[in-house]
Amino acid sequence: MRPLALSLAVLALAGPALAQSADREAGKRVFQRCAACHSVDPAAGAKFGPNLHGVVGRKVAGLPSYNYSAALKAQKFIWTEAQLDKWLKGPRALVPGTAMPFPGVADAAERKVVIAYLKDPILGR
Ligand code: HEC
Repeated sequence: MRPLALSLAVLALAGPALAQSADREAGKRVFQRCAACHSVDPAAGAKFGPNLHGVVGRKVAGLPSYNYSAALKAQKFIWTEAQLDKWLKGPRALVPGTAMPFPGVADAAERKVVIAYLKDPILGR
């Protein structure tokens, strides 16, 4: 293979992986807005908000060790990506009376990358 063709082939293979890691970095950046109140480290406990390690697929208000608001505890759903998207768009619109003092993430693309980050966070750096 000629060098140009070879590097194009390498790019074609690496492209999706690069885009994915760029999304993860973007998700990590958006998560900075959550990090004052939430950890995604399984070894860490709650901060002001509950630990978010493994939250995608978890039952709402599902950590026995965390003292959730009555409003959140009364909910009956699983944190799917669609449900997280609604929550992050407007926590108080989805769950009136929630104790999460956060206005939300207005940008749909930012919600998407931060939800992807919650599924697979980058720990330790
Ligand atoms: C100022 C603090 C604060 C910030 C910032 C914040 N949260 Fe929260 N979050 C909370 C609190 C407090 C709760 C518990 C709410 C309740 O009990 O009603 C919560 C609950 C949650 C839950 C429900 C967890 C469960 O176990 O059911 C999710 C998901 C969540 N937050 C995601 C986020 C994300 C993602 C961000 C950033 C985009 C964020 N939060 C920003 C304080 C915060």
